[in-house]
Amino acid sequence: MKGLVCKVCGYVALDGNKSECPVCRAKNSFEEKEDAYKTPDFKAVSGESEKKHIPAFKVVNECGLIPGNGCVDVHVKIGEILHPALPEHRITEITFYLDNKFIANVMSMADVNPAAVIHLKSGAKGKAQVIENCNVHGKWFNEVEIK
Ligand SMILES: [Fe+2]
Repeated sequence: MKGLVCKVCGYVALDGNKSECPVCRAKNSFEEKEDAYKTPDFKAVSGESEKKHIPAFKVVNECGLIPGNGCVDVHVKIGEILHPALPEHRITEITFYLDNKFIANVMSMADVNPAAVIHLKSGAKGKAQVIENCNVHGKWFNEVEIK
């Protein structure tokens, strides 16, 4: 999928805002790439690569961690078949968006599971999106509707 990618850190600007990278703060660092990331309709030529890379969601309301009005949790696991977590082949980043706007970035090393969670404010609505980066197979996108 075509996208605007930061040349410094690799962040993908789903909202098209290229003034400043919200992850590394570089200015004027975006370039348009034809193959910025793969989407759930991608079919690997061989093997089950897409099943190991497309982010899989679980949305949980009211987890109890946040007092008061609570939160809406977006859990993401990479992927339907769990991706390896090895020094030489791992998920290096999981980036969260809400309605195409950047909200959080989780960077990880090989000694954690290929998964992350973000606690949205109570009442959040829209499309939660994730782009994950595999150090071997690149970036993969998926989204889920928050109601
Ligand atoms: Fe991979």
